[in-house]
Amino acid sequence: TRPLKVALLGCGVVGSEVARIMTTHADDLAARIGAPVELAGVAVRRPSKVREGIDPALVTTDATALVKRGDIDVVVEVIGGIEPARSLITAAFEHGASVVSANKALLAQDGAALHAAAERQGKDLYYEAAVAGAIPLIRPLRESLAGDKVNRVLGIVNGTTNFILDKMDSTGAGYQEALDEATALGYAEADPTADVEGFDAAAKAAILAGIAFHTRVRLDDVYREGMTEVTAADFASAKNMGCTIKLLAICERAEDGGSVTARVHPAMIPLSHPLASVRGAYNAVFVESDASGQLMFYGPGAGGAPTASAVLGDLVAVCRNRLNSTTGPGESAYAGLPVSGMGEV
Ligand code: HSE
Repeated sequence: TRPLKVALLGCGVVGSEVARIMTTHADDLAARIGAPVELAGVAVRRPSKVREGIDPALVTTDATALVKRGDIDVVVEVIGGIEPARSLITAAFEHGASVVSANKALLAQDGAALHAAAERQGKDLYYEAAVAGAIPLIRPLRESLAGDKVNRVLGIVNGTTNFILDKMDSTGAGYQEALDEATALGYAEADPTADVEGFDAAAKAAILAGIAFHTRVRLDDVYREGMTEVTAADFASAKNMGCTIKLLAICERAEDGGSVTARVHPAMIPLSHPLASVRGAYNAVFVESDASGQLMFYGPGAGGAPTASAVLGDLVAVCRNRLNSTTGPGESAYAGLPVSGMGEV
């Protein structure tokens, strides 16, 4: 069987792990897919920073030329941000490739258009890694629960802020002190705004709500409140009430079934609730459905290797689909439920 060719866009923390696992687990991946997978090119911004173990001959700064080569089976996009990722993904579909992406900001903003582009070309768009790192959530919602009716998705979907809140809770540290430690440990970015102001969690909430409720939810539809105002005193009063404070993403179907809401804000959680014991940079998500009842998904929500695990799972699925000349579930059939309640908490 001919090898399937993979183009990797971005070779930072996640991309370099994807490349490493593709090499070290090449035989296992080939066995699971039914054909070998070959890294055909790696597009980076700064080739001087290219990572150990990657053949320098594969490295290019011209991502556009790489996705337009015409012989690429799967483009793996781990650049992040809106542009150039959006143009590159669109070009990938037009030039015959399927796409695996970890890009929550892009999917939360332009998921509908990207799905439409994939479907026009008969290609796959998979993005398990965009939400909660290694934790399987997209495919369980899209596939395992496709015969059920999801009513609520609720949880901790940002590892950086969970680390900070956990630190404040367990040591009495103030926000700034906890943030400085998160930065020193490499959890928070140099500019942690997207995490601490809730944008990252809101993008994930938009993606989860869209898939869970078969409707279109964009970042702008999500009510968002960050956690920068949470103080040590808030934790002290929460403790007096037998609670802790977590930054939650909450996606719900209205009781009359007529609309959906998605919101992100700090919330008091009783210490007896399983979410209260989610420590450090871990994530946990509850899914409540008519038939399944309550499911809990728990695990590492960030980091190079956990996120790469989700990317590789998608890569295997997309490669299998290519070999079978089929595609996986596309945009779930849209009920088109309105999204309501911006600001209604
Ligand atoms: N900044 C994100 C987090 C990375 O802390 O959860 C994973 O999306």
